[in-house]
Amino acid sequence: MVLSMERWIGKVAVVTGASSGIGAAIAKQLVENGLLVVGVARRVERIEDLAKTLGDKKGKLLAYKADLSNREEIKLLFDWTSDNAGPVAILINNAGIHTRTTIVDGDVEAWKKTIDVNLMATCVASREAISVMRKNNIDGHVININSILGHGIWNSPNMDIYPATKYAVTAFTETLRFELVNLKSKIKVSSVSPGVVDTEIFENMDRSEFENIKKRMLNPEDIADGVVYALSTPPHVLVKEVIIKPVGEPY
Ligand SMILES: NC(=O)c1ccc[n+]([C@@H]2O[C@H](COP(=O)([O-])OP(=O)(O)OC[C@H]3O[C@@H](n4cnc5c(N)ncnc54)[C@H](OP(=O)(O)O)[C@@H]3O)[C@@H](O)[C@H]2O)c1
Repeated sequence: MVLSMERWIGKVAVVTGASSGIGAAIAKQLVENGLLVVGVARRVERIEDLAKTLGDKKGKLLAYKADLSNREEIKLLFDWTSDNAGPVAILINNAGIHTRTTIVDGDVEAWKKTIDVNLMATCVASREAISVMRKNNIDGHVININSILGHGIWNSPNMDIYPATKYAVTAFTETLRFELVNLKSKIKVSSVSPGVVDTEIFENMDRSEFENIKKRMLNPEDIADGVVYALSTPPHVLVKEVIIKPVGEPY
């Protein structure tokens, strides 16, 4: 199998959650590979700053402000992308939150927000992107940034609703794949599932638990490498799932 990003040069990618961590690293690598990337987040000024550092690369990063917990804003994002960049060929559903409440006495509003960003935004953005791809005959690729918590759960405080959203992303990815199979579509859908990655998602975590996991962590770039690997496969090859763990991760 020959791996190459050649066929994506000049094509449009939407990366959600591009203001931080894994999303910023993916946006950067796609720009380096010659794509026109629309980076999406609420803190849009961070994406504008990242874009300034990528001026000498093959591709380009455009910053777009949206709150992905709002379905209307997701629809507007894809309209704006079509008008200002071109039809989307790659969607990276990366935006995610972990509010670290509990289930037994947790904050229901925090659960709802987590479901809206981690699951609903992934579903709605996929629907919008696939609609654009099909209208424009683009054999594109949707990649969902999932988690090892979408495949197994360990006993740790404040897991709350987060693993449930990631298990749902696993199920959503597979169900969408079957829908595309039934449509005889060549659009690919993949899940990329990281272990623990050193990002701001751990900012509101209990310090003692954090110190414990800090010893073994991946870098956001490791996950971006996994995304580029899945995208680099020839059109007839689907990498359905990429699980990336730090060596020695005990979970
Ligand atoms: N770090 C890990 O150990 C790890 C492990 C497995 C999976 N993951 C997954 O990887 C993905 C990226 O997480 P990360 O670790 O890189 O965390 P992060 O550094 O906290 O980044 C989260 C990103 O999501 C965006 N976001 C959150 N809520 C949003 C909203 N309502 N609208 C638009 N954007 C929103 C944030 O942007 P704004 O705040 O600027 O809007 C930010 O860019 C998530 O899906 C996470 O579940 C992370």
